[in-house]
Amino acid sequence: MGTLSKLKLGQKFTLMLMVVFMGGILMSGVALSRLLNYTAQTELTNKALMLMETMNSVRQYTVDEVRPELEEESEAVFLPEIVPSYSAHRVFATLQSNENYEDFFYKEAVLDPTNPKDKADDFETSLISSFQRDASRDELHGFRPAPGGKLFYIARPIQIKQEACLTCHGSPDQAPKSMVSLYGSEHGFNWQLNEIVGTQVISVPAQTVFNTAKQSLLITLGVFTGVFAIAIFLVNFWLKRYVVRPINRMAATAEAVSTGDTKAEFIKWSDDEVGNLTDSFNRMRLSLQMAMQRLERHRRKRKGSQGAG
Ligand code: HEC
Repeated sequence: MGTLSKLKLGQKFTLMLMVVFMGGILMSGVALSRLLNYTAQTELTNKALMLMETMNSVRQYTVDEVRPELEEESEAVFLPEIVPSYSAHRVFATLQSNENYEDFFYKEAVLDPTNPKDKADDFETSLISSFQRDASRDELHGFRPAPGGKLFYIARPIQIKQEACLTCHGSPDQAPKSMVSLYGSEHGFNWQLNEIVGTQVISVPAQTVFNTAKQSLLITLGVFTGVFAIAIFLVNFWLKRYVVRPINRMAATAEAVSTGDTKAEFIKWSDDEVGNLTDSFNRMRLSLQMAMQRLERHRRKRKGSQGAG
């Protein structure tokens, strides 16, 4: 007999159900966690892309509507308000002052920037290098660690596509005098047409989104496990009540019958297969009783005839 057949019925059922449920929980856990991660990433991507497009709209608005109004005034004292990059950063800074968005992040990171705060850090420099290596690549995204928790970023190359950019970012001699006196002539110049000078990066906090996903996963798996535990408990309970206990009782009665207790009776508790078995045992007990009585009578008769003879 195998190891399994040595176990009691309840243990066998529990073991079988455990195997099925463990497999079920494991498979649904993996599938669910994939799905939740995918949903989380889609949510983050949508959020980041929307902000990125908003910033580009602000840039466009500056070029179309602010610059024409302020260009002349800007010749005497340079007004950074006419610069698309400036307005995008200012608008984003206003957004960040809202505490719901303080972990959001926007940067036009450039290798040699006009404004030193736009200087690319190591991570951004590596993004710029990837864009420069592969000109067909128009977006990179992923996660980067940050002090406040994981960040999801989307990065796009900043390429000089218009001659007009070079009036300020070409040679410092040709740049507006007021601009040079404000920013100096060292940085943010000599950019070439079609050159990829930097990357536009937007980051949104990912930790909360993934925490929510993890929480949903834990809750769902918890409910699963609870349901399975109840199922295992109920199966054991019913098995004991309707199968194990009646069989044990029958075994005790059979034991009594076999040791000569003729009054012992198999008591029927239910109308199922176990109940049918009780009926059969009772019929067997009656037949046995009758057979014993016949045997007894026969023996007495023989004894009687022996005594007479
Ligand atoms: C009127 C002059 C002017 C023009 C035209 C101009 N820029 Fe700028 N640009 C600036 C100044 C000034 C800054 C720094 C703004 C700040 O203080 O944040 C800047 C900043 C930037 C930055 C951020 C990195 C840095 O250097 O600080 C990028 C990227 C940029 N410009 C790209 C462009 C592109 C692309 C164009 C053409 C579509 C363009 N600029 C046209 C003056 C100009």
